[in-house]
Amino acid sequence: MAKLAVIGSCSVDLVVEAARRPQAGETLFAEHFFMSCGGKGANQAVAAARLGADVAMIGAIGEDAYGEMLCENFVKNGVDARFLMTLPGVSTGTAHITLTEGDNSILVVPAANFQLTAAHIEQALDQLGELDMVLLQNEVPQDVTEDAIRLCAERNIPVLWNPAPARELAPDVMAMCRYITPNDHELALLFDVADPLELSAEWQEKLIVTRGKNGVDYYDGKRVHRVAGETVTAVDTTGAGDTFNGAFAVAISEGQDLETALRFANHAAALSITAHGAQGAMPWRNEMEA
Ligand code: RIB
Repeated sequence: MAKLAVIGSCSVDLVVEAARRPQAGETLFAEHFFMSCGGKGANQAVAAARLGADVAMIGAIGEDAYGEMLCENFVKNGVDARFLMTLPGVSTGTAHITLTEGDNSILVVPAANFQLTAAHIEQALDQLGELDMVLLQNEVPQDVTEDAIRLCAERNIPVLWNPAPARELAPDVMAMCRYITPNDHELALLFDVADPLELSAEWQEKLIVTRGKNGVDYYDGKRVHRVAGETVTAVDTTGAGDTFNGAFAVAISEGQDLETALRFANHAAALSITAHGAQGAMPWRNEMEA
């Protein structure tokens, strides 16, 4: 069984579904509202746990009803929530999502997520001991992300860094990551090159570019390989990238080769968008095998 830890955000998603987004100064009636568990870190942890990994979540929540809701959700999904900092007087993070025609736009209020500290992460890593992989994203403070990657490097723990939302990282820290999984927009911010092939030598089989329904590309040092995506009817794309990252970490930690692991992750991501909510349709392992 893959043993993973996810360091990152835990948020409650407040989602409004509407026919279209309002323009500045405009008021529109929406179709409906729902609340669900989210945060890129938490989503990746739940995705990996549902696919059979032993997963610990390292993050921060407020001492409030949203924090309790997230804790209960971790327990329900088999994620080890012992390494969550519960902060009195601070709100749990929220994401304010507008969903139109299956696609989303998101405003995140980080709140407790921005109180996560490197000292807390260090303690958690010391207690967790050997890990097959640590997953990180960009929804906790940048210096904390950088320190966390350094702490993993010191312990020889492979890191998968999902640079979402887009933000640059110190180049020496980026080089410590085993896998980096940007989408096109994040790729453009991270690597200032005209042709992605220029990245090949340094980033071969390390850089995995996610391209939504088109699948993913990776660089093998000589050429770009495309691992095709799957066509499904999208109900809600929120969390598809997180499902991809969680699933990829599970597959690669189980010893699957890169292509097979990417196909597994694409399949999980495709299934995840067939119902509402970031975690609503994230598949369990038996659903993947079916
Ligand atoms: O990647 C999707 C997630 O991003 C949502 O669940 C929301 O919390 C935002 O952080």
